[in-house]
Amino acid sequence: MTAILAIETSCDETAAAVVIDGATIASNIVASQLDLHAQYGGVFPEVASRAHAESISDVVAQAMTQADMVYTDLDALAVTQGPGLVGSLLVGINFAKGLALATGLPLLGINHLEGHVYSLWLAPAFSEAVFPVLALIVSGGHSELLVMRGHGAYQRIGGTIDDAAGEAFDKVGRLLGLSYPGGPAIEEAAKSGAANAYHFPRAKTEGAYDFSFSGLKTAVLRAVTIQPSGGRRAKRIRGAEKGAQLRDDINISDVAASFQEALTDALVARAQRAARDFNANAVYLSGGVSANTMLREKLRAKLSVPVNYPPLTLCTDNAAMIGAAAHFRYLAGHRASLDIEARASWRLSEDVYAD
Ligand code: KG4
Ligand code: ZN
Repeated sequence: MTAILAIETSCDETAAAVVIDGATIASNIVASQLDLHAQYGGVFPEVASRAHAESISDVVAQAMTQADMVYTDLDALAVTQGPGLVGSLLVGINFAKGLALATGLPLLGINHLEGHVYSLWLAPAFSEAVFPVLALIVSGGHSELLVMRGHGAYQRIGGTIDDAAGEAFDKVGRLLGLSYPGGPAIEEAAKSGAANAYHFPRAKTEGAYDFSFSGLKTAVLRAVTIQPSGGRRAKRIRGAEKGAQLRDDINISDVAASFQEALTDALVARAQRAARDFNANAVYLSGGVSANTMLREKLRAKLSVPVNYPPLTLCTDNAAMIGAAAHFRYLAGHRASLDIEARASWRLSEDVYAD
């Protein structure tokens, strides 16, 4: 049995969890900063790192108590090393280093995106993967398509060339005056809307497996805001993103449903093509946007291979997924030194620990 205490502070959730054998959650604590950031309509980095610093020791203590464990019951410590906000990552990394020093436990630095992929391993019905699988990670900061050929063996075949899928949800949500984060709010509004009310673009990209969502966001903006004529148009449109002069004849639910339809169509089309081209045995959907029911259902309907996704509570950021990923890295002999640094951008690829 391997017990790992994992810490995650890459964005706006302060999280700690104890995971057994990369599959069983002994504890999973997430302190959300949502209330702090809602007023800004996005994550405010300085506010995030201060809030992490205030709650990290409590969150870790709660994770140990909930797991009913003491440090000598653990085999290793894991912490998200990147990608993410540097100030936020540093709080978790420094805390983990201190714990490693005090307890003598080995430390592992984990890639946040790898964590999202391994959230699948924590689903109650999950049985071991039959590689290769296609991993589609769709979160607030990333949209990535990877072929996974074994534990820790990734080939990145595509990703967004501009906005991440969750970022598009958040920006359109803000434009429509919905609550933050936009993803769940748009999903809710879309329930009573018509998905064919507007035809928003499904962007073509040069790379066969790449995504682009900024054109879609602009198309929504043009459809729902008052368009002044003449040379001041572009400026006014950019302004509308913040203040939003919404037309009074639009139906927010119809816009939400049509936007969600366009965005999920684009994701599903790329996943379909990639699964076929790379002979994937399954699709592993993860990241905050994987909570979206329309995306889940469409993928299941359109793909000829099984589509797996994490339980709802593990779609958005948490430390259990970091503990699950760390388990397989631990088995492979990976260990971090005590001078590891935060990595603001860090791609998940074959040589993820190179350089
Ligand atoms: O994975 P996550 O918690 O954080 C990052 O690593 O970025 O993802 C957060 C993102 C937000 O953009 C949020 O709007 C989106 O996930 N999200 C959703 C849903 N729930 C969360 N997007 C669409 N539908 C949802 N139900
Ligand atoms: Zn995430």
